[in-house]
Amino acid sequence: MSSGRLEVKIKRVCARKRSRGVLKTHLTPVRKKGGSLGSPLCPLRSTMVDNRAVEYCSDNEDLFGDYDSILEDSSLLAKLDDAEQNERLRAADQKHFTNLQPSKDGAWKQSCENVLTDSILDEFRDEPFEDLPGSQLQFQEQAKRSRLPDGDKTSTPQSASRMVEAGRETSTEDKTRSHSGARRSVADLLKRTMLGNAAAPFGVSRTVALKEAVVSEEISVAMQAMETLSAETTDLGPFFGLPSKVKELMHKLRGIQNLYDWQEMCLNLDCVQQRKNLIYSLPTSGGKTLVAEILILRELLCRKKDCLFILPYISLVQEKVRGLASFGLELDFMVEEYAGSKGRFPPVKRRNKRSLYVATIEKAHSLVNSLIETSRLEDLGLVVVDELHMLGDGSRGAVIEMTLAKVKYMSKTTQIVGMSATLGNIKDLQTFLSAENYTNDFRPVQLKEYVKVNDTIYEVDPKEDNCFRFSRLLNFKYSSAMQKIDPDHIIALVTEVIPAHSCLIFCPTKKNCENVAGMICRYLKEQFLQHRGDEKAVLLRELKDSGNGSVCSVLRRTVPYGVAYHHSGLTSEERKLVEEAYSNGVLCLLACTSTLAAGINLPARRVILRSPYVATDFLKRSQYKQMVGRAGRAGIDTVGESILILQEKDKNMAKDLMCAPMENCYSNLMHDEGKGVLSLILSLIGLNIASSPQQIQEFLRGTLLFVQQQQLCLEKSLWDVAWQCVDMLKEKDLVTVSAADSLSPTLQITKLGRAAYKGSVDLTYCDVLYKDLSKGLEGLLLNSYLHLVYLVTPYDLIPQCKPDWMIYFGQFALMSAGEQKMSAAIGVPESFVARKAAGQAVKKNMNLGVVRRLYLALVLFSLLKETDVWRVAERFQLSRGFAQTLLSSTSAFCSCVLHFTEELEEFWPFRALLTELTRRLSYCVKAELIPLMEVAGVMESRAKQLYNAGYKTLSHLANADPAVLCKTIENLYKKQANLMVASAKMLLNEKAAALQEEVDELLTLPDDLPQL
Ligand SMILES: Nc1ncnc2c1ncn2[C@@H]1O[C@H](COP(=O)(O)OP(=O)(O)OP(=O)(O)O)[C@@H](O)[C@H]1O
Ligand SMILES: [Mg+2]
Repeated sequence: MSSGRLEVKIKRVCARKRSRGVLKTHLTPVRKKGGSLGSPLCPLRSTMVDNRAVEYCSDNEDLFGDYDSILEDSSLLAKLDDAEQNERLRAADQKHFTNLQPSKDGAWKQSCENVLTDSILDEFRDEPFEDLPGSQLQFQEQAKRSRLPDGDKTSTPQSASRMVEAGRETSTEDKTRSHSGARRSVADLLKRTMLGNAAAPFGVSRTVALKEAVVSEEISVAMQAMETLSAETTDLGPFFGLPSKVKELMHKLRGIQNLYDWQEMCLNLDCVQQRKNLIYSLPTSGGKTLVAEILILRELLCRKKDCLFILPYISLVQEKVRGLASFGLELDFMVEEYAGSKGRFPPVKRRNKRSLYVATIEKAHSLVNSLIETSRLEDLGLVVVDELHMLGDGSRGAVIEMTLAKVKYMSKTTQIVGMSATLGNIKDLQTFLSAENYTNDFRPVQLKEYVKVNDTIYEVDPKEDNCFRFSRLLNFKYSSAMQKIDPDHIIALVTEVIPAHSCLIFCPTKKNCENVAGMICRYLKEQFLQHRGDEKAVLLRELKDSGNGSVCSVLRRTVPYGVAYHHSGLTSEERKLVEEAYSNGVLCLLACTSTLAAGINLPARRVILRSPYVATDFLKRSQYKQMVGRAGRAGIDTVGESILILQEKDKNMAKDLMCAPMENCYSNLMHDEGKGVLSLILSLIGLNIASSPQQIQEFLRGTLLFVQQQQLCLEKSLWDVAWQCVDMLKEKDLVTVSAADSLSPTLQITKLGRAAYKGSVDLTYCDVLYKDLSKGLEGLLLNSYLHLVYLVTPYDLIPQCKPDWMIYFGQFALMSAGEQKMSAAIGVPESFVARKAAGQAVKKNMNLGVVRRLYLALVLFSLLKETDVWRVAERFQLSRGFAQTLLSSTSAFCSCVLHFTEELEEFWPFRALLTELTRRLSYCVKAELIPLMEVAGVMESRAKQLYNAGYKTLSHLANADPAVLCKTIENLYKKQANLMVASAKMLLNEKAAALQEEVDELLTLPDDLPQL
């Protein structure tokens, strides 16, 4: 964006140290707004630092927003066609199936009326899936014998009211019957099948069935009562306004019997009852999520509104979708995943069910945009943001701010709830969100913080004069050789707890994690090998499977000792396997980078911080707190300990770290030369939220940037910022400005502007993307994926690419003549690469960006061909984690480019091509595994296992019995199996319901149908 950089600058002002009293967290009484924490500070960076952002990048976060699953749609429609076709064939009394035709009087012909009637459905329900695995069939057979009648619960919602509303009384009855018959089809079929299957594996007892009946009765009575009461009276039951079934589910699915005191107190706050916006902050592991979930359930069940739950990483979204799927199935709402390649924009409009959208930051923004565009934002009753302090985290923070500002501005009825670990300047966030605040310093397990200097352990006590109090001398006997290898006495520290208890060691770099894990194992006694030996052998086998036969040499050595490392260089499969094994106690020690501290719930008895640095930067207080906060496993440990290993030289800095106030969180709209505010303004114009600089300014008054403009020391007023952005957008041809009234001109988005905002394309690359695509069309190479892949290789990964010229040259040798020609045409002739490989100087002025981009495209091209991350990463000498990140970032960008091209007529050929390419990049696996991998958290190796065991489709998985799955699938724990089956059921449910909505839409008589 060299030509058009925003000139607005933010002065850097040093942070001022705070008094200790300010640091203390406090319990905020009802209505009392907390967080007035001293004078404003002006550091630019707040709670997150850039080097972590890089790690997050490689940790599968969404680099680009706005995906949808168009790719899923077409195949789904085909699947529905198939399913319905099969259904029709099954119906013994049904000989023909003709299309529904409106007759002259507007009534539906009855030739196919109620094609999928209850009787047929009954028949279907009793038919097992023919190709289910044998063990499963046997199980279902047994269950069928004990199956209970369905009762009324499965009756499908009628669409009569809509028909009546349409005012066509003459044929209402017929139409309704026909219409509801069709409506019954898929939804009813699904519900019945699900209920039948649910009955089968679990062998539902009469008491359970009765209980369910009581609960649904409880809900329906409450709902009836509600209709007669005022709209505000929304209690459905005794558990914070929810039916007691929710409490039971919390116990059954989560093991949570009672709420912590603070959770109760928070849920009973007046402001919460009144649905005011709320920010609540507690230390790590305080149990913040549960409160948010109860609020979400209240909104879904009592107020019948949709909810949006924003989480920072794809892996967390998947975990949440899995965890909430069972609640959705039991309480009859949808849980929809908006992460990676999942999610539709706008979301499917559901008439009879509410949806919980669980989304990454970028997807949430696209989702809110699409709801504004379709005037559906008010359907969203509640937006919950986890890790709200990420507002201060670079460009991702800017996206959260835009999303929340839009929700606040466009829907007065949508409640916003943010949660975070304790923050220094909650007051600012409160002003931004017009929110109440609740703060508490509760931790379920007491945390004891220590530091180690030489062989002495000190307890941290900020009340002490010098912050540290002598605790004990470390008891160890090291040989001189060992002292050399392990000068920090890590082995002594870990062997005090493992293998009986768990331990995390946070290391400053990725390489250090591997070294520490390897070093520890060299000195562990043989008896460590015996501890859960069989399970460790299974884990190793699984790691090997996930690597298509390759297993990391470090892990091969360390896993038998119950030790592993964890960082973004691992593939997501490896990370997941390591996390699960650690959760289950098979692994007792992880050497990890700070990424593990963010969000993943992996507590440890002892947390060791290998050094007070992340890479070369001294720790920030929030980072330190997040890491040590992992110590102590609720319900298992009585106390958790953290030990920070210090060198003498760092002692004073560490004291400051222990006593420093929590960092502040600052707006990032002006981050990176004001990129955030620029794209915000473009989308405001595109969404018709603002069409003049005055309206833009009015909107900006509702941002965190406005609240903090004094602290951030903006050199220009927001008015100037708005005008400057408009000028830049005009210059870039993204908006037009009518000259009618120069003081108050009308702003309109251009086609290019719409394409940029719809595709969530970074405005820095907008022009170059347009040029590249236009040039690409002039000679598009279509007998290979290379050219297309090159065109969707993300620009922002280019700086991370350092080609190995020999490897590059080797790749040229493998190219076809067409590919070589294409490479030369885009500006990378073979001769150039050959010269570089030979180490010769190249005089020609080359565009190195293009050269590097093609190199990345070659990596991607190999990944598409071979679908083996390990082999490709090795060939290009990259970490397998990076290769995987490259793939997921590219599939995200590909989808962005697809949306970009959809808005521009001249790019019509790209639409079909990029739809398929997005699919291929999103699931870079054999085609047969894709349906299984669509289920939240099912990765390639697990999909392979399932496929080989006979679970070949989503339907197989959704109908599987978790108990049978555990027996047939190696290393699958019962809990995981339950979660997997529940989320498969939910996905199937969601897909079928979406199709049903489409069917309804198609079959609904238009209101304005011309009549005689
Ligand atoms: N009332 C409760 N009783 C028992 N366990 C609980 C209760 N509430 C929450 N937990 C458990 O405590 C653990 C930590 O909760 P949670 O993940 O919500 O913490 P958090 O406050 O969000 O922490 P972080 O800042 O690390 O994200 C979870 O395993 C959760 O199931
Ligand atoms: Mg949390």
